[in-house]
Amino acid sequence: MRFIDTWTAATVVAIRDLTPGIREFLLRPDGFNVSPYPVGSHIQVAVTIDGRPETRSYSLVGEADTQGYRIAVRRAPDSRGGSRYMWSLVPGARITITLPASLVQLDWTRRHFCLIAGGIGITPILGAVQALARRNADVTLHYAVRSRGDAAYLDQLEALLGSRLVVHAGDEGRRLDLGAAFAALPQGAMTLLCGPMRMLDAARHAWEAGGRPLTDLRYETFGSSGLLPTEAFRVRLQQEGVDLVIPPDRSMLDVLNAAGHEVMSDCRRGECGVCALDVVEVDGEIDHRDVFFSDHQKREGRKICACVSRARGTVTVDTLHRADAM
Ligand code: FES
Repeated sequence: MRFIDTWTAATVVAIRDLTPGIREFLLRPDGFNVSPYPVGSHIQVAVTIDGRPETRSYSLVGEADTQGYRIAVRRAPDSRGGSRYMWSLVPGARITITLPASLVQLDWTRRHFCLIAGGIGITPILGAVQALARRNADVTLHYAVRSRGDAAYLDQLEALLGSRLVVHAGDEGRRLDLGAAFAALPQGAMTLLCGPMRMLDAARHAWEAGGRPLTDLRYETFGSSGLLPTEAFRVRLQQEGVDLVIPPDRSMLDVLNAAGHEVMSDCRRGECGVCALDVVEVDGEIDHRDVFFSDHQKREGRKICACVSRARGTVTVDTLHRADAM
């Protein structure tokens, strides 16, 4: 169950490979009208995985486009099936998507911006680059990739940013030093990051260590990245006396809902906290993959975001008393 989604039919009008592992899709909703959407907007796409209907969230690439919505999908062998479905689509395919929504807000009155992208995290960042370049803002983009061959939109970014684009390619030995990147920023700078959980955790620590307000660090993450391997785990519903196995390719949220134990959700990306459940007991370890709870709350382990977080072992939750998440 999600709040406030308006679903609409759409056509895949074009597909192109940006890198060997990243494919871009141009989607045009029926009756499409170009209207601007905020930087960091994403859409939900209805996908079919092993015959089951599920949804996946994808960031919109770039600013509003007269041709439709662009998303880019990395083919992820360890994914829960969303990328496999998307990569099976061909031009002309009919799909169902939601209208754009954004949970990220930038303060456009700032003069200095730092943008950080990890791999496919470049997708929401490209629109921010376009918008800030147009405003002549002081902006630097740190783009961390395994190799330049894996870096989507590199030519476009170079054209927009020139020397303000810093590519950190692992195979060139140029690792991103977040502490150094933040230390180089003027006071009052705002950072927008999109990357895996490990990158965000490191960024939060470096940002705070630099004495900067956490409210000036904005971010998006991939809900699929965690600290533990993605493996099956068990969820026990204390009040119902039911045990459910969460397979590697499905979320706790999807399994609970499919089994008739309704859990509310909204972002499905570990950002809003709407799906948080009270944890009664853990026999194993929780792999918190959300960005909603603080480090302290994650260490306490009393709540879990069912949409993205996983575990090793067995987690006992109380579904009938949904956490208020705060
Ligand atoms: S639905 Fe938003 S954090 Fe799970």
